[in-house]
Amino acid sequence: MKLSWAVECAGTGMSVPDRIIRNDDFLQWFDTSDEWIVQRTGIRERRWTRDGESTLSLATAAGRDAIADAGISPDDIDLIVVATITPEHTLPSTACELQAALGCRWVPSYDLSAACSGFVYAMTNAAQSIELGMARTALVVGVDCMTRMNNLEDRASAILFGDGAAAAVLRRSESSDRRVLAARLGADGGRALTIYVPAGGAALPASQKTIDERLHFVRMQGREVYKFAVTQMHEIVRDTAADAGVAIDDIKLIIPHQSNLRIIESAVKRLNYPLE
Ligand SMILES: CC(C)(COP(=O)(O)OP(=O)(O)OC[C@H]1O[C@@H](n2cnc3c(N)ncnc32)[C@H](O)[C@@H]1OP(=O)(O)O)[C@@H](O)C(=O)NCCC(=O)NCCS
Repeated sequence: MKLSWAVECAGTGMSVPDRIIRNDDFLQWFDTSDEWIVQRTGIRERRWTRDGESTLSLATAAGRDAIADAGISPDDIDLIVVATITPEHTLPSTACELQAALGCRWVPSYDLSAACSGFVYAMTNAAQSIELGMARTALVVGVDCMTRMNNLEDRASAILFGDGAAAAVLRRSESSDRRVLAARLGADGGRALTIYVPAGGAALPASQKTIDERLHFVRMQGREVYKFAVTQMHEIVRDTAADAGVAIDDIKLIIPHQSNLRIIESAVKRLNYPLE
């Protein structure tokens, strides 16, 4: 959809744990190799939290970083949106806890669940609120502690996931050349269960049985997810650029979801866009 929202990104921040898990480290849990993982995914290492670190601590560090980068104070924030599928607690929202941790005012604060696409959904959501006049300066955080649901008995999925947070401060733009030009969001609900966590929700609450059967960990049909991603990623980039009236060649930077280098390579090849 073509847009012209008076919204700009004033600052960004990030936080990852300092604990590095290299591909060979997985040998303590299952048979694998650095070569297999690099060839299939391009991943050489990922960051995992240590005891005492969690979704909230990562979100707080990233949020603080973004607020400092924007040169504002926590008091200036009047909306907080956190995209996560591994909230600090099921209740309250991580956004509410983040508001207190950052020393922000009592401003609207909520979580949004859209998994890999969460940060893009949250950015769009916050930008809409600014455009509608419901907020002036929003803090958007994408954060996950995937180690909390990473099944070390499933070598095909366990190698993919890590922990980390990214944050952005969005604010009303006074300049006509700093605007959101287009945004597209999508979801194929029919394939929702190609990657899911069976237990812990309303369908199957926690019980001794769900724990014994390891139903609180991610289940993924890797090939299906891969096929979907390679057919969709380049299309949504192309369509969004067309909405904005921008040629792919004129885009300075594309920041894709980074679960698999092969998916990114396939998308940039189809877009005829340089990898570096
Ligand atoms: C996860 C992924 C790398 C697995 O690759 P794949 O080629 O689909 O692998 P498969 O699960 O079909 O398994 C192929 C073989 O490799 C083996 N294998 C799986 N994981 C392995 C590992 N870590 N090390 C070594 N061998 C492994 C399997 O046991 C299987 O062996 P078999 O043929 O003898 O039975 C790939 O499907 C993928 O990248 N999918 C997209 C994931 C994604 O982007 N998810 C979103 C994240 S949020």
